Amino acid sequence: MKQLIDPFNRNITYLRVSVTDHCNYRCHYCRDEDHITDTTRNEILSYEEIAKIVRLFSELGVTKVRLTGGEPLLRKDILSLVKMLGEVPAINDIPISTNAHLLAPIASQLKSAGINRANISIDSLDKGRFDQITRGGDLDKVIQGIDAAIESGISPIKLNMVVMRGVNNDEIEAMIDFAIERKLDIRFIETMPIGTAGIDALDYHYSEADILKRIRAHLPDRLITIQSKQTAGPAKSYLIENTHSSVGTISAVSNNFCDSCNRVRLTAKGKLILCLGQKNSVSLRDALRSGMNDDDIKTMIINAINHKPERHEFDTDIDNIDSAQMVEIGG
Ligand code: 5AD
Ligand code: SF4
Repeated sequence: MKQLIDPFNRNITYLRVSVTDHCNYRCHYCRDEDHITDTTRNEILSYEEIAKIVRLFSELGVTKVRLTGGEPLLRKDILSLVKMLGEVPAINDIPISTNAHLLAPIASQLKSAGINRANISIDSLDKGRFDQITRGGDLDKVIQGIDAAIESGISPIKLNMVVMRGVNNDEIEAMIDFAIERKLDIRFIETMPIGTAGIDALDYHYSEADILKRIRAHLPDRLITIQSKQTAGPAKSYLIENTHSSVGTISAVSNNFCDSCNRVRLTAKGKLILCLGQKNSVSLRDALRSGMNDDDIKTMIINAINHKPERHEFDTDIDNIDSAQMVEIGG
């Protein structure tokens, strides 16, 4: 069995695929107010191209493919892509990250097509505030989407809240209660300095330590540590005693988690991005469209992985961060 091992001995088994760089929301920390997506149809990968790239990665040891965006549910006929990915033999885990605005009508079909897990962004439980943070989002639709996903049997469902000082940090407790009530997992995320929107969001930075203090005060003696190997991701998580929920934090800034990084990213335009905090990328789209054969593309992937940086440099070298908007990379 082939494996993708990078120079720091990390095994890359997880590919995040952005299927569109369009989004129906404009969250402050993710996109500038005037950011426009002018990507044309031909610039982005077709489903056949995505499925082919995923197959090549699977032959190199990748088993998990997450669909992201922008907002992945905006891409036409997303169900057929899910089915195509489900047919790639070694892929056994196909989660999605969505803002859930369009989720309610399609949740059960996504589940049947092969989506087994979902991460849903929700930054406020107050309608007016939600509308402000997302610049036009509809909280009712999102909650309907969450409830439809629960109903469909997609599990686990993780709620992701980006915590911002003076914006929504007073809702940490309410969000925990909302998650417990629905038997969902909840993750609190520190703002990351990605793109100009993300850099601006540092003004509202609320540290992981502060988040944890609030969680502990709200759930005294009820947190059971989950070993990080079990989660294999950047989250620090705890089971909440006497519930079906877990709570955790994701902090790229306070706490560097790059040691255990197991992922790379494919943008909607077919660029392979090796690390969120670095510019290095190669165009797999151009390789495919130039007619390169499978083995040569696999060699290209292996060479790219050999240049995966050791860690992001959010905190040390701000100029290193790509000026792209997070909405194009998919978190
Ligand atoms: N900082 C932290 N998380 C971000 N996301 C987007 N932009 C940022 C940022 N600047 C993540 C959030 C959101 C998901 C879609 O992308 O987790 O829920
Ligand atoms: Fe908001 Fe997610 Fe859309 Fe970014 S991609 S604007 S975080 S809903």
